[in-house]
Amino acid sequence: MTFDTIESFRAKRSEALDFIRSKTDFKPEVLIILGTGLGNLARELDTELTIGYQDIPHFPVSTVESHSGKLLFGTLGGKKVVLMQGRFHYYEGYSMQEIAFPVRVAQALGARALLVSNAAGGMNPLYRRGDIMCITDHINMLGLNPLIGPNDNDLGDRFPDMSEPYSNRLIKLAEEVALAQNIKMQQGVYVAVPGPNLETRAEYRFLRLIGADVVGMSTVPEVIAAVHMKMEVFGISAVTDECFPESLQPVVLEEIIEAASIAEPKLTKVIKGVLEKM
Ligand code: HPA
Repeated sequence: MTFDTIESFRAKRSEALDFIRSKTDFKPEVLIILGTGLGNLARELDTELTIGYQDIPHFPVSTVESHSGKLLFGTLGGKKVVLMQGRFHYYEGYSMQEIAFPVRVAQALGARALLVSNAAGGMNPLYRRGDIMCITDHINMLGLNPLIGPNDNDLGDRFPDMSEPYSNRLIKLAEEVALAQNIKMQQGVYVAVPGPNLETRAEYRFLRLIGADVVGMSTVPEVIAAVHMKMEVFGISAVTDECFPESLQPVVLEEIIEAASIAEPKLTKVIKGVLEKM
């Protein structure tokens, strides 16, 4: 594995920033990253500018077909946001540093908070396909970490604290929003695995046993980078399949996307409500 030096990271970030700033002087307060099948929130954004990932220097380019790969700048819930429509997964072959890069750039543009969504498999027996779950904590089973390599002390600490990666303040606001709008919202622990295969029954049993409620293939690298930079983080999962080892059914991608579309309106309302209140 090779890592950027601090100087080469800073040079790449500067080039990405210079390019974005040549297009707009927009200063986002919040970065939003939308997961698989959950991109519709972008429609609610009062968009000022859209930039394709492929145009931004050093930005990875999204390869998954269900992701469209655009950076949107605009206003939502009264906040100035930069929204990533389409995200990068480790299983696509990106390094942890590449996955974290857009978060680094957004922070340098001014973003002090990260709101992130994902599609995940539900392992908690009380969860159902189409449910939404507010992430209270995570377990990193990727076997990797975006902070490995030289630490830029201007970004954050060498050994960042992880006692509250997901902001209790934002979780409280999400609870208020869900309650007020009569939305059932679970709360639990997200475990990140590399993928791309779904889990075996034995793996679901194991992941449940170590304390996770849902499992997915994203989010944790971006959250670690955000926490490193002391951004306030809110995460929310759409439960797209029921991963109960004793009654496991084969999953097809179309069904995952369909379940995401059931969860999406609820998820969109919660994220919008959190934005309004934060
Ligand atoms: N496992 C891992 N990632 C997922 C799953 C799953 O069951 N469902 C949606 N993303």
